[in-house]
Amino acid sequence: MKLINIIIFLFIPIYLFSQNTNWKSYSGDKRIEQKVDSVLSLMTLKEKIGQMSQFSANWSVTGPVMPDDFLPYLKEGLVGSVFNAVTVSGIKKFQKTAVEETRLGIPILFGYDVIHGYKTIFPIPLGEACSWDLNLMKQTARIAAEEASADGLSWTFAPMVDIARDPRWGRVMEGSGEDPFLGSEIAKARVEGFQGGKDWNSLKNINTILSCVKHFAAYGAAESGRDYNVAELSENTMRNIYFPPYKAAIDAGAATLMAAFNEVNGVPSTANHWLLTHILRQEWDFKGFIVTDYTGINELVAHGVAKDDKQAAMLALKAGVDMDMTGATYIKYLETLSKENKISEEQINMAVRRILEMKFLLGLFDNPYKYLNENRSKKTIQKPEFLETARKAVSRSLVLLKNNNRLLPIDKNSYTKVALLGPMMNDSVNLNGEWQGRGNRNESISIYKGLKEVYKNSKVSFNYSKGCEVNSFTSKSINEAVELAKKSDILLVAVGENFNWSGEAACRTNIKLPKAQQELLKELKKTGKPIAILILSGRPLDISWETENVDAILQVWFPGSMGGYGVADVISGKYNPAGKLVMSFPRNIGQIPVYYNQKSTGRPVDLKNPNIDYKSSYLDSPITPLFPFGYGLSYTTFSIENLRLNTHVLSSDSKIIATADVVNTGKREGEIIVQMYCRDLVGSVTRPVKELKGFKKIQLKPNEKKQVKFVITPEMLSFYGINNKKIIESGEYKLWISQSSVDETNTSVFSYEE
Ligand code: GLC
Repeated sequence: MKLINIIIFLFIPIYLFSQNTNWKSYSGDKRIEQKVDSVLSLMTLKEKIGQMSQFSANWSVTGPVMPDDFLPYLKEGLVGSVFNAVTVSGIKKFQKTAVEETRLGIPILFGYDVIHGYKTIFPIPLGEACSWDLNLMKQTARIAAEEASADGLSWTFAPMVDIARDPRWGRVMEGSGEDPFLGSEIAKARVEGFQGGKDWNSLKNINTILSCVKHFAAYGAAESGRDYNVAELSENTMRNIYFPPYKAAIDAGAATLMAAFNEVNGVPSTANHWLLTHILRQEWDFKGFIVTDYTGINELVAHGVAKDDKQAAMLALKAGVDMDMTGATYIKYLETLSKENKISEEQINMAVRRILEMKFLLGLFDNPYKYLNENRSKKTIQKPEFLETARKAVSRSLVLLKNNNRLLPIDKNSYTKVALLGPMMNDSVNLNGEWQGRGNRNESISIYKGLKEVYKNSKVSFNYSKGCEVNSFTSKSINEAVELAKKSDILLVAVGENFNWSGEAACRTNIKLPKAQQELLKELKKTGKPIAILILSGRPLDISWETENVDAILQVWFPGSMGGYGVADVISGKYNPAGKLVMSFPRNIGQIPVYYNQKSTGRPVDLKNPNIDYKSSYLDSPITPLFPFGYGLSYTTFSIENLRLNTHVLSSDSKIIATADVVNTGKREGEIIVQMYCRDLVGSVTRPVKELKGFKKIQLKPNEKKQVKFVITPEMLSFYGINNKKIIESGEYKLWISQSSVDETNTSVFSYEE
């Protein structure tokens, strides 16, 4: 047993009486706190600062590679965490050095971007969110943790919960769209999936990993949709729109949080005391530890708030940053800054306690090699049931945007000649999207392969012609596709973006399909054959032309390892699509940002009379999105009717039950995501014209009717008012129970009286 372990156990009795820190630990467990303080008491200042230092092994590069080779620090016991190191054997080498060859033998935390799967890759988070299936998203995060922990990792830099309203920004693909309520629910589900539940005790299990809610704060509000750009927001908008998902993740037990690259109202998040200490620690009581984003401290110099890395390190520590991600600023400057009395050792101690506590909770001090078992890795990764869940996640994430004349599904028993066309049809490289963890781009099931498999032994015949590349074409390739189209009954065209046109540092000022693909569709349109397009993208695209000119549209996102099977399950009707958009599709880039929970303005457009002058409208476009938040079709139809409230008056100690009947009025069984929206008609600040307050996903057989009930409580009406304090205001409210954010067929009113 390592010296440190003996000391920990010997010292605890001493620490029962001597420690009187005002440290509020994440676990609140006195034994853990005493162990942490025992270790802390053994550490030199340099060793403490080492725990606050994280380095990238650069085995996968997720940012500008830093020159510092961290191995010398590792050998001196001056590394707290390593990321981008993978495989059991690779990680074991580093852990062995840290544990067996350094003075104190403190184990290392190994982190990685396990964003939407580790080896089994699920749909990108923006796509998975369109399932509105919280249990499914918890399950996929759970599977990701199973695989990542089996491969040596104990920390993921996920969930990304940044609210995003601008599809020019490439990282919309990582989040859950534009709505604070849905984004909060999904954030909770994913944190619990990674960590094995709300209880911190689950962290000691072998198949759980630390989550890291990111990027705090308002990274998705990047001006002009340009990555890393400034976020200029009122405190009121931050509190009502951007903060809720971070808070929800923290309330769900998120063990760590990542500071964002961007500045918020003039102060970079990494040096933003108001964000990292006032909001996180004092208001939200966050007790985990805060890590910067990649070289976030160094970037304070480029931001222009620090003259050099040393000043940057001081600003970051004072703001509340506990760990420096691969910037090597803490390890280089904190000791000097401490000697110069520019920072306090107690601030360093607090950061180190938070980091050490997580290592204790994970059980790394008891067994630093607990995640490092080759056999477990082989047995766990890509288990059949994991792949089956991935296939299910694909079909649930697809959103049917248009389906004229019920072109889809394509009946397996019909003698239909289907032309399989487009650059994404027989492609597997793009299916995993960005942040594919350790997925293998060549292993993902292409749509072509999925269709061939699912339609095996059916009467449907498929013929394939690519038609064009993602971003280039020849007249020959298009002509071949057109000739095939003329001999076919239905054209199934898979179009979209390359996987790396979204994700980090992947923003676009033109979000239409590439010209080559537009050219292919225009030529196919001339054949007069019915066209269904499958869109693979990491963002809402401007598909106005396509919406006008094709017969069916299935938004596929980037579906991951089992993409082709999941898409084929929907095309064949094996699964009736139920996905609903979590981010509005603009008619054109000029509309951005366009989102459902907008403010009324003093001159709101009357959508029934949109041409009235002097209204908040455009001369050249409707103000409504092409496809709104909460929208998605099914192969069947539903009606929601007979909305009734058990009372129309809500008081501080009561609740309202809103009930509606949902009927499947079509010929196929299907699921529907029933949504409840409210509007606060008069507030001390302007209030959104609509806010999602609840949703339920139900399954209905043809002609089946079910009651759906929503409970409305005063807390659900709370918001940050004129003084940026959380309040509930008396007054009148509207209520809808709907099939989308624009469906207003079922509405009612109620009042809240304190
Ligand atoms: C990247 C991303 C962040 C990621 C980190 C580590 O720059 O901004 O989301 O977790 O670096 O790879």
